[in-house]
Amino acid sequence: MSSAAATSVATVPNEKSPVEIHKGINGLEKVILRDIRGSSVESNFKPPKPIRGGIPICFPQFSNLGSLEAHGFARNRFWIVDPSPPPFPTHSSNKKYVDLLLKPSEEDTKIWPHSFEFRLRVTLGPAGDLMLTSRIRNTNTDGKPFTFTFAYHTYFSVSDISEVRVEGLETLDYLDNLQNRQRFTEQGDAITFESEVDKIYLSTPTKIAILDHEKKRTFVIRKDGLPDAVVWNPWDKKAKAMADFGDDEYKHMLCVEAAAVEKPITLKPGEEWRGRQELSTVPSSYCSGQLDPRRVLQGS
Ligand code: BG6
Repeated sequence: MSSAAATSVATVPNEKSPVEIHKGINGLEKVILRDIRGSSVESNFKPPKPIRGGIPICFPQFSNLGSLEAHGFARNRFWIVDPSPPPFPTHSSNKKYVDLLLKPSEEDTKIWPHSFEFRLRVTLGPAGDLMLTSRIRNTNTDGKPFTFTFAYHTYFSVSDISEVRVEGLETLDYLDNLQNRQRFTEQGDAITFESEVDKIYLSTPTKIAILDHEKKRTFVIRKDGLPDAVVWNPWDKKAKAMADFGDDEYKHMLCVEAAAVEKPITLKPGEEWRGRQELSTVPSSYCSGQLDPRRVLQGS
């Protein structure tokens, strides 16, 4: 996209969305949102399996906490691009965004008997930051509320999992998925990785940092409306057992998932819930002391 086109789209956000739609894998549609600096996000779909990587949306059920398929059906569905999304409420002319919509099909209502509208706004900020805002509305006409759990199942690419630390979750309580979701309290300074991890941290701060020592890069997650944070790395044995996961890929990934799991969300008809996640990166050279991870967490 040329910079002129990017600018004119940005200043008239209600006109044609600044998205490119291409043929993706298996001829399926892929949506690319690109900003003036060349940052881009894309999504594609390879039914009937969910796509591993990126940021799958877990809705209306996280993991196997209910009768639906693992992580709910939203990540396995076709979403549509809203051709005329509502504008941003405030001055945000330099942001590129696309609204994706999901409404239940007849098949979906057989397994989850509710009517909803899910609007996912994907926004690229001027510095390449990625914001995801989910708005879920109960559109039931039978007067019934519904309850759901939710997660942004974000896969982060890291140089070497054994060199990574997560800051912001230390001393918190968590449910250990590897031990029947028993509740424990995290000990120690920061989270580091030397074996399989699958934990749901509870009542977490709005900011979490993932420090990649080797790449000298820190990912910062800011979140709103999502009190929990799931941390997952399958490690070697589970990686081998997963058909869509390379045997050694666990060394170069980490999922840190902004989530609402412990206290499910209930919406009455007409009510809307909002859950927001913002991802940014800051260059860091933690090993040389140039960046104090606590400042990343405490800074604005
Ligand atoms: C995590 C869960 O969120 O996702 C793990 O805590 C699960 O228990 C992992 O294994 C991957 O799930 P899936 O369905 O994408 O293989």
